[in-house]
Amino acid sequence: MSTAGQVIKCKAAVAWEPGKPLTIEDVEVAPPKAREVRIKVVATGVCRTDWEHLYEREKGMRFRPFPLVLGHEAAGVVESIGPGVTAFSPGDQVIPLFLPQCQECDRCQSLKTNHCRKNWANTQAGVMADGTSRISCQDQQVFQFLGVSSFSQYTVVPDSSLTKIRSDAPLDKVCLLGCGVSTGYGAALKTGKVEKDSTCAVFGLGAVGLAAVMGCKAAGARRIIGIDINPAKFEKAVTLGATDCVNPTDHKKPIQEVVLEMTQGGVDFALECHGSPSVMTAALESTADAWGLCVIAGWNETETMSVKVEKILMGRTLKGTYFGGWKSVQDVPNLVDEYMANKLQLDEFITHKLPLNQINKAFDLLSSGNSIRTVISLW
Ligand SMILES: NC(=O)c1ccc[n+]([C@@H]2O[C@H](COP(=O)([O-])OP(=O)(O)OC[C@H]3O[C@@H](n4cnc5c(N)ncnc54)[C@H](O)[C@@H]3O)[C@@H](O)[C@H]2O)c1
Ligand SMILES: [Zn+2]
Ligand SMILES: [Zn+2]
Repeated sequence: MSTAGQVIKCKAAVAWEPGKPLTIEDVEVAPPKAREVRIKVVATGVCRTDWEHLYEREKGMRFRPFPLVLGHEAAGVVESIGPGVTAFSPGDQVIPLFLPQCQECDRCQSLKTNHCRKNWANTQAGVMADGTSRISCQDQQVFQFLGVSSFSQYTVVPDSSLTKIRSDAPLDKVCLLGCGVSTGYGAALKTGKVEKDSTCAVFGLGAVGLAAVMGCKAAGARRIIGIDINPAKFEKAVTLGATDCVNPTDHKKPIQEVVLEMTQGGVDFALECHGSPSVMTAALESTADAWGLCVIAGWNETETMSVKVEKILMGRTLKGTYFGGWKSVQDVPNLVDEYMANKLQLDEFITHKLPLNQINKAFDLLSSGNSIRTVISLW
């Protein structure tokens, strides 16, 4: 029986307040309105950004309203479409996107950026274009995270925040292309434009950093130095292409000095994939002074990074990346194709699989450094 046009009752992990574990609730998901699509979420990764928003708000995350349904790294199937939607049909396999691509705004028209701002203020505030969320629980509006909310069996997204992917792609793998792997891979390939035979350093070897390592390797980098305070991450980093691994806590000197020595003057490309200002400064200072490029992928919305003028005066460049620089709607299906053609790895990133009712365990595994990605099965 079709559910189109009806409110759907389903399970979701609700964050009622910051700092408290998620609880599994019966929620109601309203039908999609104009230019919106309701999707059945099949699988979702658990990204550090979800965890940070719940547990580290005082450390670099801006206020977003609660209660909310987190989750933004997912894959699913279109259940129904709202008025005016032309690019999707029920049954399509899709990946929801926390970064839209409306194809119409000046940013979408520009090749210089992927920062489409369609519905931006609203999705950042946890609501859809009309100022309300489609998810409710116990007669209360539940806000949506980054316009997605994939820790719910069903969710509604704007049609510019969704991309259609091939029908044979395994959703429990390609969900990782909704955030972490695309971000790190693109940080190296698209934003950093890492060059063949170059020397690279990747700071932080979680999913984003490991994907950056994979991107550096795909670009043909000669040397890829993986840096993490958790040596348990090194084995996977080597599998994905790291040629050296360094633990900053093994050294008395600051890590940037260690990297400068290892490379006789600094790396060509440094990629920060942790999100802390001090690591960002170290990454910048570990690049070669004349041409080094530092790409910041780690997320931080409120803190300040310190840059000594001298460190950029001679020619270093500092850049940020959002979603790896990919034009989301257009590029994610191509990344799915790369995975299907064995050019891009995803299976290596999945260390755990859990059902929705164990989602707090996924957060524990991530924050304790014992997982790379846990994929949550919603059904
Ligand atoms: N720019 C974007 O669009 C975007 C997208 C997704 C995620 N992110 C951000 O990327 C960052 C990484 O996400 P993740 O899911 O890979 O997180 P993660 O927690 O899995 O990985 C972070 C890694 O950094 C390591 N680390 C901690 N302190 C360190 C230090 N001093 N030096 C070096 N390494 C250190 C940790 O041990 C861990 O392995 C987060 O800040 C996340 O919010 C940004
Ligand atoms: Zn993410
Ligand atoms: Zn746009």
